[in-house]
Amino acid sequence: MEKNIGEILITREEIAAKVAELARLLDEEYAGKNPLMICVLKGALMFMADLTRAMKIPLELDFMAVSSYGVSTRSSGVVRILKDLETGIEGRHVVIVEDIIDTGLTLKYLVQNLQSRRPASLKICTLLDKPSRRQADLQPDYCCFEIPDKFVVGYGLDYAEEYRNLPFIGVLKPEAYQ
Ligand code: IMP
Ligand code: MG
Repeated sequence: MEKNIGEILITREEIAAKVAELARLLDEEYAGKNPLMICVLKGALMFMADLTRAMKIPLELDFMAVSSYGVSTRSSGVVRILKDLETGIEGRHVVIVEDIIDTGLTLKYLVQNLQSRRPASLKICTLLDKPSRRQADLQPDYCCFEIPDKFVVGYGLDYAEEYRNLPFIGVLKPEAYQ
């Protein structure tokens, strides 16, 4: 499996350290607010699990699945909700937990959709950000790592559903998807 990984961009230790740091920050900012942490499936699965496990304040979890890509590595801009929340978010403090913001088109849609449900607050927390690729006017409120314009996999991120279980963030060799 790892023959298609060109380099390790972020090690599991680096991820763990950043996630712990972010958990402390969220513990402070959301103390007494019982935040609803929304995992955007499937890519944010590992990040969500590690981040919320490291947080000490009371919180709730929910999950959404949206699709913007087939097996391609480019955003189509078309977003479908494949699985919606089970929780009503009106008046709640909501944190969207994402794997990566690339063009931002997926998240822009999600933010608009969730804002229309009138949460008390809505913030974006992402493991990775590729700011150079942005097409939508959108910034994360919390970001663990800014990365260059390379296609990455691992720690939840996939290419055609593969590589999600790698414990690190690796760069996929272009020949693996060209
Ligand atoms: P956006 O709409 O272009 O911001 O795309 C966001 C989604 O595309 C993410 O939630 C990922 O599922 C996927 N994605 C974007 N870049 C990468 C990457 O480098 N590796 C794996 N998935 C990616
Ligand atoms: Mg994906």
